[in-house]
Amino acid sequence: MKRMLSGIKPTGQLTLGNYLGALRHFVEYQDEYEMFVFIANLHCVTEYQEPAQLKKNLKDAIALYLACGLDPEKSVIFLQTDVMEQAQLGFIMMCNTYMGELNRMTQFKDKCAKGEKNITSGMFVYPPLMAADILCYDADYVPVGEDQKQHVELTRDLAIRFNNKYGETFTVPEPLVAKVGARIMSLQDPSKKMSKSDETNKGCIYLLDDLAVVRKKIMSAVTDMCACVRYDKENQSGISNLLEIMSCITGEPIDSICARYEGKGYGEFKKEVADVVCEEIGKIQARYKEIMESGIIEKVLEDGAKKARYVAHKKLDKVQRKIGIEIRKRS
Ligand code: AMP
Ligand code: TRP
Repeated sequence: MKRMLSGIKPTGQLTLGNYLGALRHFVEYQDEYEMFVFIANLHCVTEYQEPAQLKKNLKDAIALYLACGLDPEKSVIFLQTDVMEQAQLGFIMMCNTYMGELNRMTQFKDKCAKGEKNITSGMFVYPPLMAADILCYDADYVPVGEDQKQHVELTRDLAIRFNNKYGETFTVPEPLVAKVGARIMSLQDPSKKMSKSDETNKGCIYLLDDLAVVRKKIMSAVTDMCACVRYDKENQSGISNLLEIMSCITGEPIDSICARYEGKGYGEFKKEVADVVCEEIGKIQARYKEIMESGIIEKVLEDGAKKARYVAHKKLDKVQRKIGIEIRKRS
C-alpha cells in the first residue's frame, strides 16, 4: 500500500480553504493509502502565537480532523512535537539545504516583499523541517493546496540530493494538488487566497463560525458588474471562487451550475452557495461538538504518536548511520 502524509499548521482556526483544499482529500484517501496526518505545531511557532490561544487552536484542529471524517482506525493522527525525530531530521535536512533555495521560497519572499519586520530564522528554515516531516515517513504522496506545492518540490530535491550523496535512503515524494479547490480565494478580495490571517475576517469562512455568520459572509462576497454566473477567473474572480466552492462540496460540475443559473441574478446564486456551505459546515460542527465532549482526543494522539514514532525512529537511525554521526544504536 502506498503511503501518504500531510499536515496543517493551526496558527488560527481552520478555514473552509483548509477543508476544501486539504482536509477533505485526506479523508477521501484514507481508504486507499496508508495515511499519516499530523498537526504541525512546531511550524506554528515560527511566528509568535499567544500561548493559550495556540493551545485552543491545536485542540480544535485535532477535533476538526476527526469531525471531518479522519478515522483513527484508518489513519495515524498525531502531533508533530510528539515525534522528536522529525525535528532532529529537520536539522540534518537544513544542513543539506542551500540558503539560495530558501531565499527563493515564495512564502518567505512574500513576507520580505511586504516589508515584514522581525522575520524569524525559524520561518526561514521552515521548508527543510517540512521536508523532514515528509521524509521521516517515506511518504509517496503529499496532498496539499496550491500554496504548499513549492515546499514539496523542495522536499523532492532534498531527497534526491541526499540519496545521491549518501546512497538510497529516502522515498522521493510527489505533491498531489486537486484540480478544483486547491486555492479557495478570499470572499472580500478574490485576488488573495482565503487565509486564517485575514485581517477583517469577512473574507474567510472558519469551520467553527456561527452558521448565521457564514451565510452573511457569503451573501456579502465581492462579485462584479457582469450580472451573469460564469466561470471566468480573470474577469469574474469572485463568482468563479463561489462556483468552485459549490462544485467542490456538491460534486456538481461547474458548467452544470452555470447552466442552471442562466438568466438569473447573483442573489439567488449566493443563496444556494450559502445553503450548501452551511449544510456541510453544520454537519462538521455537530460532530466537532460530540468529539469535544467525548474526551477521545488525548487517546487518539497517544496512539498516533506511538505508531508514528516507530516509523520515524527507524528512519532517523538509518540517516544518522549513513551520514556517520551514530556510534551506537539508539534505544
Ligand atoms: P495551512 O493552513 O497553511 O497550514 O495549510 C494547510 C493546508 O490547507 C495546506 O495543504 C494548504 O495548501 C491548504 N490551504 C490553505 N489555505 C487554502 C485555500 N485558501 N485554498 C485551498 N487550500 C488551502
Ligand atoms: N507547511 C504546511 C502548511 O503551512 C504544513 C506542513 C508542515 C505540512 N509539514 C508538512 C504539510 C508536511 C504537508 C507535509 O500548510
